[in-house]
Amino acid sequence: MQSQKEVKKTRTLVSGIQPTGKLTLGNYIGALRQFVKLQDELEDTELFIFIADLHAITTPQDRVELRKNIRSVAALYLACGLDPAKVNLFIQSEVIEHTMLSYIMESTAYVGEMERMTQYKDKKGKQMEGIRTSLLTYPALMAADILLYDAHIVPIGDDQKQHLELTRNLATRFNSLYGETFVVPEGFYPETGARIKSLTEPDKKMSKSDENQKSYILLLDDLAIIRNKIKSAVTDSDTKIKYDLKKKAGISNLLTIYASLTDLSIKEIEKKYENSNYATFKSDLAEIVVDSIRPIQKRYFEIINDIKLDQILTEGAERARFVAQRKMQKVYKKIGLGRIK
Ligand code: AMP
Ligand code: TRP
Repeated sequence: MQSQKEVKKTRTLVSGIQPTGKLTLGNYIGALRQFVKLQDELEDTELFIFIADLHAITTPQDRVELRKNIRSVAALYLACGLDPAKVNLFIQSEVIEHTMLSYIMESTAYVGEMERMTQYKDKKGKQMEGIRTSLLTYPALMAADILLYDAHIVPIGDDQKQHLELTRNLATRFNSLYGETFVVPEGFYPETGARIKSLTEPDKKMSKSDENQKSYILLLDDLAIIRNKIKSAVTDSDTKIKYDLKKKAGISNLLTIYASLTDLSIKEIEKKYENSNYATFKSDLAEIVVDSIRPIQKRYFEIINDIKLDQILTEGAERARFVAQRKMQKVYKKIGLGRIK
């Protein structure tokens, strides 16, 4: 199966997800589901999707939790429909070439470029001391993740746009310094409306790092809790189920979730609930969310302790390593590192 993949594919897709905390409905709609769609649509493309565990240690992590999260995120990817026959799923730290190319990228990037990254500035601002060097150099590792596989397409959220731009600059700079080596990748951003907001503060994004547990839905939340979270989602005092981001952020967010999980457009949903009320709408939405999540949880609990999961990750890492090793040899040669082979 692996070699078949190799023959037919002429393009490459790379994406990663950090194993920090638990995955939310926002991650599912904004990232995981997109990967599943892409794996089915892009027949000429080889997919490399990895758990970015090295990225996670840019901030302190508990050893036991980290290990658990890595496995859990991998199982959730598969539970959400990622097909190991179509995707190379692996753990970043198991392919040493990511770290190797990261150093080369640090030796291509300028300190000023790293310091300009808004995510770094935000995270640094929140943490007063003990800021790790890797938090600053993080985009070099991300560039390595992408360039190692000559990715043409990189599905990411808007928050990663700046890191992708830097990756493109580094690829171009390296190519002009040492000769054509890397493909300059394109970002791929999910359709508009795929940004899911907090259920309690609908101006903010739904995030697993939010302190208020009612603000997000975890893919592994108890189904009864999920229903409750939807039903108690913050809405306005009006009664109309109408999409209006400015005046009705809460309802607009719920409409976005509804549309994302069904084949209906927002307009069609508005029409359907024209003469209805918030309670009915929320109760219907709660069932839609639960119906989407129930099969994911079922598959998750089947796979999480199964040796098959280890086999998938081992095979994914082997294929990734094969491609990455070839690339690193080329990179070392172009730069003039080591001896001539
Ligand atoms: P994060 O959980 O922030 O590491 O993000 C992992 C992936 O999920 C990225 O592609 C994000 O853009 C996506 N994502 C995270 N939160 C949301 C959200 N609330 N709505 C849509 N996509 C999201
Ligand atoms: N930095 C990304 C995030 O926080 C995760 C990530 C790491 C990634 N390496 C990547 C995404 C390479 C795309 C490609 O969401």
